[in-house]
Amino acid sequence: MDVHPPFATAPADSPTLASLPVEPLLTAEFDSDPGAVYARLRHTYGPVAPVGFMGVPVWLALGYREVLEVLRNESQWRRDIRYWRERAQGHLPADWPLLAGYEVRQTMFMDEEEHRAARRTHHSALSPFQATASPEGWELRAAVERYADELVALLAAESGTTGFADLGAQYTRPLLLMVTTRLFGCPVELGDELVMDLWRMLDGGPDAGPATARALATMTRLAAHRRARPGDDLTSYMLLADPDLSDEQLGRELFMNAVYLNDITGNMVLNTLLEVLRGNATVRRSLSAGQLGETVNRAALANPPVANMCFRFAARDVRLGDFWVRAGDIVSPSAAAAHQDLLAIGSSHMIGTTVSTRAHLGWGAGPHQCPSTARELGTLIVTTAVGRVFDHFTKVELTLPHDQLPWRSGPVVRGLRLLPVRYELAATAPSAHRPVPAPAATDTHGCDGHARGLLAALRRLMFGGKREG
Ligand code: HEM
Repeated sequence: MDVHPPFATAPADSPTLASLPVEPLLTAEFDSDPGAVYARLRHTYGPVAPVGFMGVPVWLALGYREVLEVLRNESQWRRDIRYWRERAQGHLPADWPLLAGYEVRQTMFMDEEEHRAARRTHHSALSPFQATASPEGWELRAAVERYADELVALLAAESGTTGFADLGAQYTRPLLLMVTTRLFGCPVELGDELVMDLWRMLDGGPDAGPATARALATMTRLAAHRRARPGDDLTSYMLLADPDLSDEQLGRELFMNAVYLNDITGNMVLNTLLEVLRGNATVRRSLSAGQLGETVNRAALANPPVANMCFRFAARDVRLGDFWVRAGDIVSPSAAAAHQDLLAIGSSHMIGTTVSTRAHLGWGAGPHQCPSTARELGTLIVTTAVGRVFDHFTKVELTLPHDQLPWRSGPVVRGLRLLPVRYELAATAPSAHRPVPAPAATDTHGCDGHARGLLAALRRLMFGGKREG
């Protein structure tokens, strides 16, 4: 006897995704004010809307309830891209710029037992680095503080104790590169180009394919390097946790970690700084109460860096919002849009001074949410990076009105290109006269040597005339 309820089939006369007119999501308005676009889509279509992602129709889940359903119900919403009907049937444009990243098969795009096993590897390899009691955790924490101080000292040396700075290019991006270099056990050659390649892939730029291939090749070389010369780093610990990983598999996992550690964590730093600087009252209140973790939660609620999460594919026909989604359809759950629901509940409830904002989806939810060890690590880095700014600067002000700041244009990440500020350093800030460490000498494979060499390379990058375009 069949004890399972029969699954519903979409009524033949309900509109399919392909039959609906879709408006392109990525417009100038979306770059400057995504909230207005989400609100209009909801008004027109309800909690789920058909939109165009660079010419390909996608269901965008906007309502908090619908987004949670998509994130949590693993048997209905699959991550494996092979469930995507349009791709399986060869209907996608060959040069669709978002495809390159999705074709890199790693933890995020696996389902069920294969996925759970891969997550265990990440969890086990990351654990020592976020634990306060372990030497790796302690050293990493100290290193993040030291790198932040070095960058402030560098700023003071180059621009003085008062002046103008871009907290993206001169603080956050180099800081995250230094942390990644150390945590991954990277050779010094990793630099700003890696960051740019990750941007190109996530934002779906015209050269997303070659950028993905370059970043992947770098990570695969790193995997081979650490297999031959293991150290106290994440790459080596991943191999310890799963010795069967090939260099290519490990390279793909590192590549995905590099996205989160470098780009997403960096954007969480910038988005948190921005919420404080633009005067978000609840964010500022938690900061002045010394609750840095809560400051990050509040900033994630206001502006999650992973604005629209990775695609899911419907295993079966299912009703979502006011539409019937067909088996094999593609859905993007929008954390940023879902947060509008939370914010609409109002200050009395979610964003009051004492009530936590942990209902936010900045870390995702369900089986693919950011692993707890990674969340701890991300929080440690963000709180240290943000805390150091407010420890060392007596004054930091935006030099542009917040609604004129330049944002990256892309469907996934809500990230600033620049965070231009006018600053004044405290008398106790790292000294402007402290010598900048010399470039690494011969041992380019030791972590401290890497960090020093990288800092020197960054110094040339930042002040040698090269600027991010
Ligand atoms: C503040 C920083 C971070 C934020 C906001 C963040 C956010 C997220 C989000 C939203 C997801 C789920 C995406 C989805 O379901 O589509 C995710 C997954 C993940 N994150 Fe994080 N993350 C951060 C830091 C990190 C760090 C530092 C690491 C590791 C070094 C990391 C490793 C991962 C991994 C491995 C996954 C995939 C989990 C899976 O698919 O099962 N994250 N993260």
